[in-house]
Amino acid sequence: MDLLSDESYDGGERGQRHSRLTGGFFITFEGGEGAGKSTQIERLARRMRAKKYDVLVTREPGGSPGAEAVRHVLLSGAAEPFGPKMEAILFAAARSDHVEQVIRPAVERGSIVLCDRFMDSSRVYQGVTGGLDPAFMKALEEVAINGMVPDLTLIFDIDPAEGLRRATARRGAGDGPDRFEKETLAIHQRRREAFLAIAEAEPERCIVIDASADAGVVENVVTAAVFAALERRMPVQRKQTAPV
Ligand code: TYD
Repeated sequence: MDLLSDESYDGGERGQRHSRLTGGFFITFEGGEGAGKSTQIERLARRMRAKKYDVLVTREPGGSPGAEAVRHVLLSGAAEPFGPKMEAILFAAARSDHVEQVIRPAVERGSIVLCDRFMDSSRVYQGVTGGLDPAFMKALEEVAINGMVPDLTLIFDIDPAEGLRRATARRGAGDGPDRFEKETLAIHQRRREAFLAIAEAEPERCIVIDASADAGVVENVVTAAVFAALERRMPVQRKQTAPV
């Protein structure tokens, strides 16, 4: 079934849909390696744009010029010798720039922002499998996101062995795994469990998507979840630190 062929998903009435778009909507896509997030974000963006939604696709680490400058340092492994705390602070620095330069302005303009990875990746990769102190991670997260909590988070769940197989196939022969992909299967398994634990702890924000299914099936599930969330959304009160 093409869920978007049902006009009820965008409310059917143009005026009504416009009023619901005021204030924007921030959706993040999370999960392990090779879960198909990027493909699904592109497909969702295409379907939403076909419905005249104003959509911005972005990603982390990166998404703004400042954050993209930090991306290479993180994914090449150049920061790895300095330890997980150093990496966590760099991810947070990149996130802060991305939030203030790109995400918040877009949401305030009324756009729907689709972001490939965000704060939950730091909670899982740096916090859980990096073994960092939860209080430190919480403080860092607060500074980095400055109130910009996602309205909706889709957690793409897949057996890590299958995810890594997909990631390898996607890369092709020339490129090796990045800093995080190259870690052991046991670490990827802990990450999977940590993402599922976040979903369980925050059911009002998170939806778990079975990413092992066929891409077309996943696309329909994602589309239905996102449009249902847009239907029922309430104006979000974001707590932002006052500028000094
Ligand atoms: P990338 O190739 O951009 O994406 P993906 O794996 O989603 O296809 O790789 C980003 C890597 O950075 C990925 O291994 C997860 C990791 N990462 C963190 O460790 N912490 C973070 O906060 C973020 C955003 C990403």
